[in-house]
Amino acid sequence: MKLLLATNNQHKISEIKNIIECNKYEILTLLDLGLNIDIEETENTLDGNAFIKAKKVFELTKLPSISDDTGLFVDALNGEPGVFSSRYAGENATYDDNCNKLLNELKIIPSELRTAKFKTVVCFYLDEKKYYFFEGIVKGIIINEKRGSNGFGYDPLFVPDGFSKTYAEMDFNLKNQISHRVKAFRKLKDFLDSFLE
Ligand code: IMP
Repeated sequence: MKLLLATNNQHKISEIKNIIECNKYEILTLLDLGLNIDIEETENTLDGNAFIKAKKVFELTKLPSISDDTGLFVDALNGEPGVFSSRYAGENATYDDNCNKLLNELKIIPSELRTAKFKTVVCFYLDEKKYYFFEGIVKGIIINEKRGSNGFGYDPLFVPDGFSKTYAEMDFNLKNQISHRVKAFRKLKDFLDSFLE
């Protein structure tokens, strides 16, 4: 079965291929189909954004489509940056800009109150009447300086509960066993396995 992944983010593509791809499922990306599109995330929930992206690429290709949206929800900031994680420091913010803004916002917050969670919502859009959502959450803390150079986004600042390393200090395989995105995509994989039995 061919599944179209609605992203151009190379980090995500390799993470997701790692989880889903096997002899039953082939993951295609927008670039594989020569589609050079960037779908704007106009909704104010992760579910809403995942849905519009999957629906849009389904409409363009008629292929079963998968999309995800992720946010970092920081308790001391009432859930910010949340659904706006990619543009926390402004429209064209880099990962570094966003991390620096987060460090600044949390400057006076003591370590025991720097709790946060990453949440991913995956939407699997099979057709106009059949679409499904899967969720993955990882709780952790935001440390007070960047550590590590692997991964992307807020990885250098996030230490998942039960670990002492940030996501950015973990090697690809470890992050890829425990992350929020992996949890959500594993649920999708289980669903596909039972659905296609
Ligand atoms: P997206 O919805 O997956 O594009 O994620 C939105 C934003 O959340 C990204 O631009 C990153 O800043 C952040 N983000 C998403 N996933 C991760 C992750 O695994 N580690 C660190 N930051 C992430």
